[in-house]
Amino acid sequence: MSGHGTPIPMMSSPCGPLSGVAEVPGDKSISHRALILGALTVGETRITGLLEGEDVLDTARAMRAFGAEVTDHGGGAWSVHGVGVGGFREPGQVIDCGNSGTGVRLIMGAMATSPIVATFTGDASLNARPMARVTDPLALFGARAVGRSGGRLPMTVTGAADPLPVRYAVPVPSAQVKSAVLLAGLNAPGQTVVIEREATRDHTERMLAGFGAQVTTEETDEGRVITLTGQPELAPQTIAVPRDPSSAAFAVCAALIVPGSEVLVPAIGLNPTRAGLFTTLREMGADLTFENEHVEGGEPVADLRARYSPGMKGIEVPPHRAASMIDEYPILSVVAANADGVTLMRGVGELRIKESDRIEAMSEGLRACGVGIEAGEDWWAVTGCGAGAVPGGALCASRLDHRIAMSLLVLGMAARAEVSIDDGGPVATSFPLFEPLMAGLGARIERTDA
Ligand code: S3P
Repeated sequence: MSGHGTPIPMMSSPCGPLSGVAEVPGDKSISHRALILGALTVGETRITGLLEGEDVLDTARAMRAFGAEVTDHGGGAWSVHGVGVGGFREPGQVIDCGNSGTGVRLIMGAMATSPIVATFTGDASLNARPMARVTDPLALFGARAVGRSGGRLPMTVTGAADPLPVRYAVPVPSAQVKSAVLLAGLNAPGQTVVIEREATRDHTERMLAGFGAQVTTEETDEGRVITLTGQPELAPQTIAVPRDPSSAAFAVCAALIVPGSEVLVPAIGLNPTRAGLFTTLREMGADLTFENEHVEGGEPVADLRARYSPGMKGIEVPPHRAASMIDEYPILSVVAANADGVTLMRGVGELRIKESDRIEAMSEGLRACGVGIEAGEDWWAVTGCGAGAVPGGALCASRLDHRIAMSLLVLGMAARAEVSIDDGGPVATSFPLFEPLMAGLGARIERTDA
């Protein structure tokens, strides 16, 4: 649970070359899914490399509340004794998903086709985010949801006693909505079909297939048509969670902008539905190489090597790439601030309803640090200052958003003067060891309340 603690002010100062190996934590999206699908499977699912960030720990607690036995064996090794599809029991307490939109939306889907009632809440950030995008399709299965105005948490969901299968075209590019519908479809008879116009991360589909569900994906004129056959018997799995490309992005981008740096980030998940940032960085002229490419547990993986890249150029990032790098725009804006020319990001309206309004949060921080920004409802333009030429020297707000906090700290590493944030606490939701890991590479991040 984040956002409840005392703020942790931090300052990141300009630093010398970053060098070494950055072992970033497990993938957040895959970690949530491993716990939830493990909980829906009879028998023991073993997980290694689980992200032990607050978001995922909240999901682990939630799965216990729904009746699964979830055990932490230490060092990222966890096991889940699940209750089977349709086997969730009614929780005896409110489910607090902390800061995690993925956690709450996927869990709502997973319980929506069982005859139980659950009440969900979160921190101030999560309680401000829209849930109707999930509860609307869940209503088609027969579930009912009552929340605050605007479809906000806290919210009580009554699962369908006699769920119907659903055919649903997702109106916004959202893996969370797609996944909620698929997880609900698990306990509906017949075939549940989800159609998405643009490909979003496909970890749910891959993992459902791994657990033995019948799930197919077809590329059609309508888009990707995903068909799940309901009421399968899932078989317990052994899951090795790959390291998170969205967390790797911070070490990679820091190396690209801090003079003289060379950093190796090993064994990063490079599922094509997640790898858009790396394509974009290469188009900008980043010295970024993939080594040791292989497949692990059904997901493509590689070691990333990033070297200082002065002379990167601003580019136009096309809207069709947005879903594959949706969480990476804040850190891309930091690289763009250190490039020459304008980086124009189009089709990024979804950024406005993440843990914060990320366009507004980063624009405010970058402007305060002397960077030229223009933005509209679904576009965002950063005028680069050139390599190492961002003035910095400002105190910025992280707005309960881990990716804003980490992006601003990376900004300070390559600016002319330090960058401070009012609260680094949210970093623990996805990357609890960010500070020591970056310090090990040579970054200078201090807690300024100490
Ligand atoms: C996620 C999907 C994305 C992303 C989030 C994680 C997931 O949200 O921003 O951090 O694990 O499914 P969308 O629902 O917008 O795709």
